[in-house]
Amino acid sequence: MLLQLKNVEVERDGKKIVQFANIAVKKGEIHGLVGLNGAGKSTLAYAIMGIIPISSGSIIYRGEDISHLSITERARKGITMAWQEPARFEGITVRKYLEISRKKKEDSIEEALELVTLEPKKYLNRELGEGLSGGERKRIELAAVYLMRPELAILDEPDSGIDMMSIYDIIGLIKTINSKGSTVLMITHRDEMSEIADRNTLMCNGTPAITDTPIKVSRIFREMCRNCDEHDFEKKGGC
Ligand SMILES: Nc1ncnc2c1ncn2[C@@H]1O[C@H](COP(=O)(O)OP(=O)(O)OP(=O)(O)O)[C@@H](O)[C@H]1O
Ligand SMILES: [Mg+2]
Repeated sequence: MLLQLKNVEVERDGKKIVQFANIAVKKGEIHGLVGLNGAGKSTLAYAIMGIIPISSGSIIYRGEDISHLSITERARKGITMAWQEPARFEGITVRKYLEISRKKKEDSIEEALELVTLEPKKYLNRELGEGLSGGERKRIELAAVYLMRPELAILDEPDSGIDMMSIYDIIGLIKTINSKGSTVLMITHRDEMSEIADRNTLMCNGTPAITDTPIKVSRIFREMCRNCDEHDFEKKGGC
């Protein structure tokens, strides 16, 4: 296993947002994380990246407990994350941002932009600030993840803000990132995206309820989440 969450609990403002979180991500797989709005998917992603602390349990990466390491230390170990809402860097060009992200000299930043269907000539000298649309920033961030060649890429809704016509380009990029050696933990609401995963985990009310094939998880998602009794869920500590 590349990543193992063992009974992870995350609190925010004194409220348990994530609890009983046990997930195992295999090296080399695309692992989807699905669930309703507010299920705790982003919170769990932040906790893995070290952006917010966990209140109990442990995060094991390559057999080592990284629960108390800083974001930078986790990044050095090869973990990277693309946010649901990409950051707005001011005063830095797309070219510079991609150059900083690039791990291997042989990777071309022009090619990375083409993979996210942005014309390099049009974008390389533009600034990463307000002038770019949400979808453009999202694509540039994904191009940066591609260039980083991370060991574990956590992608929080890489499809959000991406128009329907381009969704298959983004799916293609995720497959490319994976085929170049990155394990991918991908949060998504779209079936087209979760279908490409090797395995999916369904999050319900802060707890990963099941990990299985995309087909099984999607069926359980539809059946279980529609009929979920939240009160009963809390009593049982899971679905
Ligand atoms: N700082 C905070 N203080 C209190 N509650 C919070 C805080 N951050 C998140 N929450 C709550 O935690 C729950 C989980 O939020 P989270 O963003 O992890 O959900 P999500 O599964 O990523 O949802 P979405 O699909 O909408 O992105 C939500 O109910 C949210 O309101
Ligand atoms: Mg989220």
